Amino acid sequence: MFKKLGIAAALATAIALPASAQDFGSKADIDFANQLWSALQTARLVGPDRINVQPFEGNEPHGAIQQAYATTVAVGGRTARVLVKANHGGPDVDVSAVYDNPNKHLGAYTVMFKREAGYDSENKDWFWAKYNPAGELDKNPKGAAIAGRFMKGADKGCIACHTAAGGEDLETLTSK
Ligand code: HEC
Repeated sequence: MFKKLGIAAALATAIALPASAQDFGSKADIDFANQLWSALQTARLVGPDRINVQPFEGNEPHGAIQQAYATTVAVGGRTARVLVKANHGGPDVDVSAVYDNPNKHLGAYTVMFKREAGYDSENKDWFWAKYNPAGELDKNPKGAAIAGRFMKGADKGCIACHTAAGGEDLETLTSK
């Protein structure tokens, strides 16, 4: 009897994790990422009609040629800093090919948006997201959307690499 209860209690604990225990890919993260995408589109920082800034040669994993935007946008009534990187790649891609045709070689947008204090205080409160050119969220190998605190601890992901790459505020190098 006690044994059974113990198992039931353990199962209940395992299943009923508080929402905050999920670091990324939750419904709330996906909703937020969709709102962020709309704000970015309105500001013409993503999408086929985005502002065509000068491309430059970059490093893995962000694509051989990149475009970077650093500004502020409002999401859910809160205005905060956003960094957008358009990642371009493919055979024979170079800076002038991307400038002339900014959507042809586009692989993904990687975005950092500064959330409210306490969202992820260990990691400077950034919300991380990766979208395809149409604005759909990319997924990790386990099928979870890349949106939120992606990923903490030893797991490979935006936060792990940006922490290792250093840089003030986990912003890295390119948009300085
Ligand atoms: C393996 C390391 C690594 C991973 C993983 C990584 N990044 Fe980066 N990121 C960098 C480096 C290095 C730079 C700067 C140099 C460059 O882009 O070539 C950068 C730059 C950026 C920038 C431009 C900001 C700036 O100040 O330069 C954004 C935005 C960004 N990353 C978002 C993301 C997101 C979102 C993810 C996850 C989906 C991610 N990064 C995963 C290493 C990484």
